[in-house]
Amino acid sequence: MATDEPFSEKLRVPEALTFDDVLLRPKESRVEPDDADTTTRVSTNVRLSVPVLSAAMDTVTEADLAIEMARQGGLGVLHRNMTPEEMADQIEAVKRADELIIRDVVTADPDQTVHEVDEMMERAGVSGAPVVDEDDVVLGIISGTDIRPYLEVGDRDEVREAMTDEVITASEDVTARDALELMYEHKIERVPVVDEDDRLTGLVTMQGILARREYDEAARSDDGSLVVGAAVGPFETDRAQIADEAGVDVLFIDCAHAHNLNVIDSAREIKQEVDADVVVGNVGTREAAEAVVDFADGIKVGIGPGSICTTRVVSGSGMPQITAVAEVADVATRHDVPVIADGGIRYSGDAIKAIAAGADAVMLGSYFAGTDEAPGRVITMNGKKYKQYRGMGSVGAMNDGGGDRYLKEEDEDEEFVPEGVEAATPYKGPLAQELHQLVGGMQSGMGYVGAETIPEFKERSEFVRVSSAGQTESHAHDVVITDEAPNYSPDS
Ligand code: XMP
Repeated sequence: MATDEPFSEKLRVPEALTFDDVLLRPKESRVEPDDADTTTRVSTNVRLSVPVLSAAMDTVTEADLAIEMARQGGLGVLHRNMTPEEMADQIEAVKRADELIIRDVVTADPDQTVHEVDEMMERAGVSGAPVVDEDDVVLGIISGTDIRPYLEVGDRDEVREAMTDEVITASEDVTARDALELMYEHKIERVPVVDEDDRLTGLVTMQGILARREYDEAARSDDGSLVVGAAVGPFETDRAQIADEAGVDVLFIDCAHAHNLNVIDSAREIKQEVDADVVVGNVGTREAAEAVVDFADGIKVGIGPGSICTTRVVSGSGMPQITAVAEVADVATRHDVPVIADGGIRYSGDAIKAIAAGADAVMLGSYFAGTDEAPGRVITMNGKKYKQYRGMGSVGAMNDGGGDRYLKEEDEDEEFVPEGVEAATPYKGPLAQELHQLVGGMQSGMGYVGAETIPEFKERSEFVRVSSAGQTESHAHDVVITDEAPNYSPDS
């Protein structure tokens, strides 16, 4: 505003809309929801079969939830209220989860007794073990069938007498198909992997191969491992490097206001120092998108829409999410950079509206915080089950680290100025069920618009503006709900 312009000019304000302000206009369609393809790109090099990310929050995403997200085709983004080393361990845990070659192999010693090895295998939950010498050279393999009936071997006999010593092994470059062929041919269930000196380097099991097949839509990197994301503070170059070395696929610059020029300088440096893709966020305007689009592998949108966020009431600043996504997508689409809509999504309908507004994928916190795989235990209040869910800008979460998300200095003598609350969310059960409802609802949205793919949906979808009467009409009304629906609760 020029200095001679009257302040009242500021009141000629543009309108900004959010989820409940709009609906998708139904269109002619031949697309059945089940046939709608939700494949998308979340950053330059990472594609997902399901356009959904779990939030980098300490009550939402740690390794267990990230593993399940990737198995179901989405992406889990690890929070950063942990040391960089702990984060590296969690990244490695996700990367190892569905590995063809198991590295953490339970082995037996030829001098152990049959009884000892039987107990050891039971404790470790495995039904067989390679037998190795002190240099890890494979001498044999022992399995439950070799020892359990104790027909020919006694309980106190040594493993070397009971083991099978003609071992079928494979080398490091073994594929799942090679391993299966070996297993069928020799009627075995596990194949030790060895180096050129016959030293054990890993193990491939039939059970592992079958488990991988169960997740045929899983999001995987080129080497077959599950994809994983991790949050880094805007100035945390060290954490970014450690996470990168641990094999993270996407780093998320985790900042409540990424249109801060110091944050952008630092994000640009981090991008130069890592191999992983770097998604920058959060932003909420066209200008912010323009400031990062030349180097970001993805842009994350959301200034204050989250269920536990108080940014807008505390700071008086923010952008209603549908408008924010559309502004950012205007810029990002011209540069072919993916957009992620982060926060405020309560229903599958909100998620697909965010895609119509220009997002390529959506990020959710509260939706997943109540699942079994999220950190924390189930609590019971007034006979109902809940799990804890707190904003990363809440006092509790900032005390545990990460206050720099809000560009706040830590000062022992001063109280934090929080921008989030600590809360509880209904317990929901397994993540796979929740994600199924979310994605199924998004596919329904694609069906109503007649789009078979996400890019087609983004192009074909149109919004109508909804009055508050229209919004009331959208929800279940004039009835008393007798049975809970798996995808709808009026007070979501
Ligand atoms: P939902 O609505 O899915 O939102 O629960 C999750 C997103 O909210 C953001 N987030 C916060 N925003 N104060 C904020 O203003 C907070 O304390 C806070 N914690 C998380 C974050 O972008 C997350 O993905």
